[in-house]
Order: sequence, then structure tokens, then C-alpha cells
Amino acid sequence: MRLTTIAQFSLAIIPAIARPSVTSDKDLYTQAGSHVIFSYPGLTPPDELLDLTKQGQVGGVILFGENVDENIRDVVKLFQSVYAEGPAYSGKPLLIMTDQEGGNVRRLPGGPEETAKKIGQSARPVLGGAKAGATAASVLKGANVNCNLAPVLDIYRTPDNFSISKVGLSGCSTAFIAAQQSVGVIATAKHFPGLGPAGNENTDLQPVTIDTPLKELRAIDELPYMSAIAAGVDIVMASWAIYPALDVKRPAGMSKAWIQGELRKRLGFKGVTITDAIEAGGLKAFGDDAERGLLASQAGMDLLLASGRNITQGRVVVDALVQSLKDGSLPIKELMKQRKESTSCAASLLSDVWPSASGRKLYHGQALLRSFAPSLYASCLPHTSAHKTAPAESLAAGRSFPFW
Ligand SMILES: *[C@@H]1O[C@H](CO)[C@@H](O)[C@H](O)[C@H]1NC(C)=O
Ligand SMILES: *[C@@H]1O[C@H](CO)[C@@H](O)[C@H](O)[C@H]1NC(C)=O
Repeated sequence: MRLTTIAQFSLAIIPAIARPSVTSDKDLYTQAGSHVIFSYPGLTPPDELLDLTKQGQVGGVILFGENVDENIRDVVKLFQSVYAEGPAYSGKPLLIMTDQEGGNVRRLPGGPEETAKKIGQSARPVLGGAKAGATAASVLKGANVNCNLAPVLDIYRTPDNFSISKVGLSGCSTAFIAAQQSVGVIATAKHFPGLGPAGNENTDLQPVTIDTPLKELRAIDELPYMSAIAAGVDIVMASWAIYPALDVKRPAGMSKAWIQGELRKRLGFKGVTITDAIEAGGLKAFGDDAERGLLASQAGMDLLLASGRNITQGRVVVDALVQSLKDGSLPIKELMKQRKESTSCAASLLSDVWPSASGRKLYHGQALLRSFAPSLYASCLPHTSAHKTAPAESLAAGRSFPFW
């Protein structure tokens, strides 16, 4: 009798202790994993990555040229189907992203052929941007890819026609974003707050410090972000350069001052934030992949980009997030909040627009652009009559921003 009681007692108590910790470990991994974008080498997704996706530990996948051949549509379908079997699935697809910027940076076969910089300097930046965005969207949709890490909003300092390129790039990129998002492809404005002043220095290769004064960064480099945010851009990617104007120590993507202060509070961005490549050469001073991921997450970045085509890289970032959630160094409340914000945003984007774009609500900014230039939205065909006053140019001119 006594034995039975003890046995019953222990049976009752053991699962009561063991079960929640097992469950919560799984939950922690799902929670942390939803913040990490993975990548892989070659044409065939490794089983390890498919398993992790099925377990709900993958927040998305970034595709590079080496991952792409004529089977890419089916590869993406495979990711979606294993993801749909797992605990992270809530009826919305996994984020599948790539860089289809235009110019040399195009991971999928097809356009756009010109860079944002070039279109921004052209005579008709808005029309060009809309065409480029529509082209990118159709190429991505053809491959089942639902998110583009474009357009590039960096304003390079071209002395001869700088002011043209400043307003032009703003109009071009906003039209690019609107054209993409209105057909259901997520757009990403990058690299906040702007890599233009860096010229040829590249954060992928080396540490970059941009000493541009705050006033100039706000008046010039942030200008296209204001239009992009007004147009409802879904994602903003932060730059890995250091901008001492607001933070002398940390690159923008690891800086609360830039992400929470400038981007969220001052510019009012409510969408999803993503880092640039975690393995970037510019981050030498910020530890290994795990430490970099943590620093970015602590600064408030929603998605961490493990793009080294190395599944271990994604895993160590997820592990680091889980570990610091456990030891309290990354408060779970904050990550939960971030997760809620990012997934509810990304999810609502995806549920609204993917796979069918019909019924997508136009954002305020898109509606505004549309009312300026209905022909732009009616079609992006080469012979559309271009407007004398480009919408975003008049937007920028007619709107009094409280900042400058
Ligand atoms: C701006 O300058 C670039 C080269 O610096 C040139 O290719 C482009 O045509 C110029 N655009 C305009 C509108 O003048
Ligand atoms: C893959 O990522 C792990 C974890 O960050 C790192 O230790 C390893 O060196 C990486 N491998 C390659 C080939 O980059």
C-alpha cells in the first residue's frame, strides 16, 4: 500500500517536473529558431536543415546563386512542406528570401538588370523603380520565393548630380517597394541608416566607420527610409557600419540607439528588422557567430541572417539565443515581444499576400503613390506615359518632415 502510494506519488511528481522543462526547451528552440535565417551550400538542401525546419527551429532560408537551378521551385516547395509538418507552422509559409537587387546582384535568373543607384540617377526614377520592382517580384514568384532583400537605399555621393540621385533614389526605391509588395512579395529596404557615404568600403570585407554627422545622415541617407516607411515597407535591413553620430562602439545592427531609437522611435518603423550577414568580415571585433547574433538580438533585431551557407552557423546562433534565454541574459520577455512583433508582422504580410496576392490592402503610402500616378500601377509596361512630377519627388517636396 505504502509502496504503491510512493510509486504513484513519484509517477505523478516526475512527469510534473520533467515534462515542463522538456516542453519548454522545445519551445525555447522554436522561439529562438524563428529569429534565425539559415543558408546551405549547393543545390540540394541537406537533411539536417530539412529536419531543423520540420522541428520548427528555422525562421527562414536565404537562397544564393549556388542553390539555384531549374529545380528551385520544387526545392522551395519541399521546405514549405516540411515546415508545415512542424510545431512552428501556423498556417503561414516559411520565409524564403534572396537578393534580387538588380545589376550584378541577382541570385535568380532574370531581371531587374539595372541597379537602384543607376535608376535613381536616371530621368525617370519612379517609373524605372516600379518596373524593376515588378520584374523582381515576378522572377521571385516564379521561383516560389516570397521575400526579396531589396531594394538598396544607399545614397552614394556622386558630386555631379548628387541632389538628383538623392531624390531620385528615394522615388525609385519607394516605387520598387510598392510594386513588389502590391503583388505579394516582401520587400527589404537596406542598409539602414545608409552605406552611401562609405563609397567603396564594404562591411562584408572589413570594418567600416561612417563619420557623417547626424544632421547629414538624417537629411540625406535616411530620406529614402522615410518614403519607404510611409509606403509600408515590410522589412528594414540594418548596416554593419559603425556610425559614431549615435553610437561610437557598435555597428547599426547591434546598436539600440540606431535600431530602437532612430529606426523604431524616430522614424516610426513598425515592420520587421533583419541583420546583414552575421559572418561579415566587418564584424571581426564582435566575437564569433554566436556572440554577434546575441548582440544583434539584444539591440532589438528581429531576424538574424546566418548566410555563410553553413548550417552549423545557424545552429550556433539558435543555441546562443536559447542559452541566453535560459540564463536570463536575453530576457525572455523581450524576445517574446520581439517575436510577437516580428512574426505577427511577417505572418500578416504572408497570410495576406501569399500565395495569392488578391485582396492585399494597399498601404497608405502605396495608395498615395497610386493616386499620384495611376498609370504606374495600371501597368509597368515600357510605354506607360510617365508623369512629369514623379510621385515620390512630390511626396518629398510637399511633405514637411518634422526632422529637418
Ligand atoms: C548622374 O551621374 C552619373 C555618373 O556620375 C551619370 O551616369 C548619370 O547619367 C547622371 N544622371 C543625371 C540625371 O544627370
Ligand atoms: C560554420 O559555422 C561555425 C559556427 O559559427 C564555424 O565554427 C565554422 O567555422 C563555419 N564553417 C565554415 C566552413 O565557415
